[in-house]
Amino acid sequence: MTLVLGALDREVDALAAALGDPVEESALGRPVYRGRIDDHPVIVSRTGVGKSMSALFAQHLVDRYAPKRIVFTGVAGSLNRGYELGDVVVARDCVQHDMDVTAMGFELGRIPYTDYRFLPADPALLEIARAIRPPRGRAHVGRILTGDRFVTDAGLRDRLAAALDGDAVEMEGASVALVAAVNALPFLLIRTISDHSDGTALDFERLLDVSAANSLHYVRELLARL
Ligand code: ADE
Repeated sequence: MTLVLGALDREVDALAAALGDPVEESALGRPVYRGRIDDHPVIVSRTGVGKSMSALFAQHLVDRYAPKRIVFTGVAGSLNRGYELGDVVVARDCVQHDMDVTAMGFELGRIPYTDYRFLPADPALLEIARAIRPPRGRAHVGRILTGDRFVTDAGLRDRLAAALDGDAVEMEGASVALVAAVNALPFLLIRTISDHSDGTALDFERLLDVSAANSLHYVRELLARL
């Protein structure tokens, strides 16, 4: 079974609506949708926003449903100047940009005393995703930065991009990637660019719809090619 997560209802509603034989359950007070996409068993749910909510909820679902893999989808702000609104970025790896213990000599993003810094996508899932074309817009493979901050400042955006060589920024990917890594589960992170992380061109509602369509398309294609 594949666990498919997003942060917001709008990021997972289309996936939940596409399920065959759907069963709605509840976990930690949230709806969890069990069903099939084509012939593949999936669980779809919404983690809530930010690293803590997403990690604790993802871990709970891992304990409860023992998935074979985790896919996280939703929107991200661009860091890479070549990315346009509506483009898809599949994470080659992701990192917590606000894990900063540099004062004690650890590299930015390193969880102290662990091997965890750049958390890689599962190579097989990434290979499949590379071959998928989005319904509209372009597809990229890049590095996604995760932190508990919605970035709306061009200066901060450029500092983050430079410090960690990031291509996009969001608020849950690396925390769910950490849950996957600790539980030895394959992980893939797929985001649609909703803004340029500078507080301009915020057309969030429309981009949430584009993201939902991209997510459904990617998850469907991914599962079909497993
Ligand atoms: N998700 C979508 N856009 C974002 C941004 N600019 N910063 C953080 N998370 C985001």
